[in-house]
This record gives sequence, C-alpha cells and structure tokens, in this order.
Amino acid sequence: MSGNSGSNQMWGGRFASGPSAIMREINASIPFDKALWRQDIAASKAHVDMLAVQGIVSHEDAAQIAEGLDSVASEYELNGVPENWDLEDIHMTTESRLAELIGPVAGRLHTARSRNDQVATDFRLWVRDAMDQAELGLKQLQIALVTRAGEHADSIMPGFTHLQTAQPVTLGHHLMAYYEMAGRDRSRFADARVRMNRSPLGAAALAGTGFPIDRERTAKALGFDGPTDNSLDSVSDRDFALDYLMAAAQCSLHLSRLAEEFIIWASQPFGFVTLPDSLSTGSSIMPQKKNPDAAELVRGHSGRIVGCLTALMITMKGLPLAYSKDMQDDKPPVFEAASLLALSIAAMTGMVAEAKFRTERMRAAAELGYATATDLADWLVRQANIPFREAHHITGSAVKLAESRGVALDQLPLEDLQAIDARIDDRVYAALSVDASVASRASHGGTAPNEVRKRVAEARVALGLEESA
Ligand code: ARG
Repeated sequence: MSGNSGSNQMWGGRFASGPSAIMREINASIPFDKALWRQDIAASKAHVDMLAVQGIVSHEDAAQIAEGLDSVASEYELNGVPENWDLEDIHMTTESRLAELIGPVAGRLHTARSRNDQVATDFRLWVRDAMDQAELGLKQLQIALVTRAGEHADSIMPGFTHLQTAQPVTLGHHLMAYYEMAGRDRSRFADARVRMNRSPLGAAALAGTGFPIDRERTAKALGFDGPTDNSLDSVSDRDFALDYLMAAAQCSLHLSRLAEEFIIWASQPFGFVTLPDSLSTGSSIMPQKKNPDAAELVRGHSGRIVGCLTALMITMKGLPLAYSKDMQDDKPPVFEAASLLALSIAAMTGMVAEAKFRTERMRAAAELGYATATDLADWLVRQANIPFREAHHITGSAVKLAESRGVALDQLPLEDLQAIDARIDDRVYAALSVDASVASRASHGGTAPNEVRKRVAEARVALGLEESA
C-alpha cells in the first residue's frame, strides 16, 4: 500500500526530497486512524461553520467546504477510506480529497486549527461513543442477569470460598453478584464520560490561535459540555482514553470471572450448567465434547484488554508537553480493546440468557460437603447460648464424625450429636437443611430467597423493566 513518493504536498515545502520508505511507513497512521473518519468529518464541519459565523472565512467558501466534506463522507461510506501512506493520516487524507473535489478553497478549512487539536477532538468523539456502547451493552448484560436471577431466587447451590463448599446460597444471589459488578462498570464508563466531555478543538497546535474563534460554538455543535481550558493540556491529554481503558480493563476482569464460573460449572464433575449450543464448539476428535470456547475467549480477551491499558499507559508516561508523535500510538490499543470488550459483553450476555442451569445437580452438591456446618454452630449459639468459638469447635467434632461415617450432618442420630454436646436437642435438624440455611440468611444483601427477590425487584425498576411500586 503506498502512493506517490514525492515531497509531501501539505508539509513538504521545507523538504528537498520525499520521506524515505521507512519514514513513510512508520509515520503512517491511516491504516488504523481511518476508523475516525466520521468524527473527522463532523469536527471539520463544526469548525468551518464556526469560521464562517466568526467571519474568518466567507459563508460561500464555508458552504462549499461543508458540501465537499459531505461528498467525501459519501465516498468513504461507499468505497471505504483510501490508504495512501504519503497522506499519513485520516486528517490529511480527507483534506487532500476535499481539495481534489473543490479546489484551493479547501485550504481554508485548516485555518485556526492544527492536526493536534483535530486528532484530540476526533479521538474524544470516538471514545465517547465507545463509552456509550459499553454502557449500553452492560445494561443488556444486567437485564439478562436479573431475568435469570428472578427465575432462580429459590434455586439452591453450594456457595464457595477457596472453591471449597462453604455455605449454601441461591443461584439468583450468585447471579446478582455479577449484576452489582456490571453496575459499577456502567458507572465507571458514565463517570469517565462526564469527565471527558470537553472539546479540545481550537487549542490549535498547542498555544491557541490568534483568530477570533468561538470554541463554545464548536464544542456545542459536537455535543461537548464546553471547551477545555488549557491549550497545552488539550492537545496532550489522553486521560479520556486511559479512563476508557481502565474502565474496560476492570469490566473485562468481571467478564473473565463470570466466564470462568461458566467454564467450571459446565465441566462434567460439576455439571451445574449446560451451555447454549450457539456459544459452544465441538471437538474435531472427541465426539462427546462440547467446549466452552466463547467463555474461554472472554477469559483470554481480558488479558489482551489489560495489555491495551498497559500499552497506552507506557506510551504516555514521560511525554513532555505538548503533542509528541508517540501519541499517534494511542489509537490501536483503544480500538482493539473496544472491539474485544464489545464481543466479550455480547458473549456473556448470550451465555447468561441462554444457559440451562441444572438446579438438581446444584442442590445435590450443596447437600454434600457439610455446607450447613455454620448453621449448626449458629444454632448452638442461639438455642444453647454457647459462645460462637466453642460452638465452632463442637460443630467441628460433628463434621468429623459425619465424615468418618460418610454421611451428611443431618443423618447423624441425635444420640451421637448429644454425645458430642448434651445441649443439642432434636430441634437442630430443622437448621441443618439447605433450605433452612439459605432462608435464615435474610440480613440485608444476604442469600435468602426473599432478599434476592427484593434485590431483583429493585434492579428491574432501576433497569426500567418495571415501574416503581
Ligand atoms: N496522525 C497524528 C496522530 O494521530 C495526527 C496529529 C499529527 N500532528 C503532528 N504534529 N504531527 O497523532
């Protein structure tokens, strides 16, 4: 991919010969920044409209330029953006095509502007859309989570710590934990959006401009809350991209953890879930296999997304004010992270919405593993007024005995329990069932089915799925 190799028509004036092949290639960002073409056209149209209103270019010239920009946009829409390395980037590609279409008047567009504030503006617009899309995608994931959680407010499964059976919980409660995470992720994108929504356009190369521009006007036209307040910061700030990547990285960690749950649950020894066929693959050699590839790739993608964040952090560290060409490398990691994140959110939304939960297997697993041992200890505290530490010790002996006989706690005869501690009576059995266990955990945010239903109801209102009561 290349074009003519003569001296560049836009900045070639002071150079005797054209850039070397290596220079052309290392300099070119058009292979990736062509993704900014819509933002570039929109920002140019806002800029030229303002130039006309301010009397910096004539209304006729501005109209011609705006019309020309529309034609370039139609061409891009139809045929894609041409990649000519000599034109370096999307900004010069568009301006050069504009000049071909409307002639020298195109040269007035770049008055009171630099590619430095231009790229900062375009990229902000792009990242703002990416933030909105992530937020929207996460809302869909939350909808899938509350829907399934509502169906499974009463479904009992083992709750784990250290991936060892700890206490029974409900599947609804477990799914709602991810609803909370997705909510924090949404708010991170929303916060970042508020912080970034200022227009750098008009900062020009680094110092502002002597032309009587109206930065409020261009800011408003592009949906920003106002202009940025320091021209040096405006052209060198990529916090908005880092904020996006940080939110994306954090979000991808959550998605990866959820994916990991599905991978474990779908394994044969667990058998807690049957993954949707639409998000699984078969093995070319083992006919019985159904692999959780989508979930595994979500888990894998989180590593790449964190890598994108690291890449841009390292690019930005140590850059003096204002613009340096290193900053051209800001786009590939953001573009990559955005497409990986969008896919990951969509895959996990489908997984949650369509998985078949094998609740009988979950319940059976919860009944194994002495998941209600804490309930026995709590019962001793409540009914026999035994200090918790002592109750813990007594329960330990009961678990040891049950384990040695290979039975569940509630299968130990009362005499045997009383031999361990005489204060135990037959009311204890009511506390040892998994249903009693989850029902008892009705503290705010606890796993009791009624608590889960309450939280699901609140969430459905928050998501606009239901009117508030
Ligand atoms: N392609 C460049 C970038 O992405 C545009 C800004 C170039 N500015 C400059 N002074 N060379 O950062």
